[in-house]
Amino acid sequence: MMKRSVFLSLFSMACLLAGIFGAACERKGRAAAAEGLPKEVKIGVYMAMTGDTAAFGTSSMGGIRLAVKQLNEAGGIRGSKVRIILEDDRGQPGEAKTVVTRLISKEHVTAILGEVASNCSIVAASTCQQNAVPMLTPSSTNAGVTKKGDYIFRVCFIDPFQGEAAAKFAATVLNKKRAAILTDLGSDYSRGLTQSFKESFLKLGGEIAIERNYQASDTNFNAQLTSIREQKVDFVYLPGYYGNASQIIKQSRELGMPQPFIGGDGWDSPDLWTGGGAALNGCFITNHYSVDNPDPRVQTFISQFKELNGEIPNALAALAYDGANVLFDAIGKANTTDGARIRDALAATREFPGVTGTISINAQRNAVKPAIILELKDGKYVYRTTIPPS
Ligand code: PHE
Repeated sequence: MMKRSVFLSLFSMACLLAGIFGAACERKGRAAAAEGLPKEVKIGVYMAMTGDTAAFGTSSMGGIRLAVKQLNEAGGIRGSKVRIILEDDRGQPGEAKTVVTRLISKEHVTAILGEVASNCSIVAASTCQQNAVPMLTPSSTNAGVTKKGDYIFRVCFIDPFQGEAAAKFAATVLNKKRAAILTDLGSDYSRGLTQSFKESFLKLGGEIAIERNYQASDTNFNAQLTSIREQKVDFVYLPGYYGNASQIIKQSRELGMPQPFIGGDGWDSPDLWTGGGAALNGCFITNHYSVDNPDPRVQTFISQFKELNGEIPNALAALAYDGANVLFDAIGKANTTDGARIRDALAATREFPGVTGTISINAQRNAVKPAIILELKDGKYVYRTTIPPS
């Protein structure tokens, strides 16, 4: 009996000591994290720099490069210089997971920027969330991305709104009634936009005459286009990426289809024109930003970008620039490399003055911003109108 109680009290004393010691260690750990920033802050970037969506990574890196240059020249984040560690995931979701794991476990990056294509962001977001490393995607619009957890953010609008914006523009500005939809079945982005466009267009009194699918690896779209041609639709909604879009539209003209195609931000690339040429004239896209915006903040960004990268920035470059700056701002406010603190600072972002609009992060960790409608004209994306958030 006696023995047992001695044992018990020794045991509870040991537990108490362990508890105090543990708590002290934890406090020390937290205090160290709160003390400021190291001389250099490492930020991981994962993008497609090669492969079918290489233009996405190339454009985005132009924006990130400008943001980092401006930041470091102005003294960095509270005196800490930012260093970017870039990984090419070739636009493959499996590869995105691999390179993000490497950025976290080998490079010990403080936070991560990427991807563009929603398929890749969705997979990598799970890895970032599991490791409590904040991830900010500048441009992935699929609703599922930020649902992966509280460490995952974006500075762009989401596809439930982007599809609705396209439907509103088609139904109320262009006065079109009869639509076809052509979806990339392997893409979360394309499927999500199809769904939101369809719901909104039907609500607005439109009719979906026909729906067809393709795979990103397809090169011949005659079968789908021939059956769409028979339906005599007013336009085709084509929520895919630039490589397929240019081929599909070109082949539709060869089949004698005169209708406009309407797409989303995924068409935004100089390579769209290389493949599609004049066949693209008269088509429209929903997008995040327009180079025609006379706002001095936008025009200054355009000339600085041009000076550094030798070209006019597209929406991806502008979103990546904004995304990087929002992240730097949050790290500065957190004043630590601690993931949870940076997460909290990102979540508290309000009225951040970006070149793609004013950025406030909502409770779902998304930005709520207007969609811009651009018309495709002789190699240019020409501003047509703005659809405010619903
Ligand atoms: N929104 C696209 C996606 O989620 C990516 C994209 C954004 C592509 C902007 C081009 C321009 O997959």
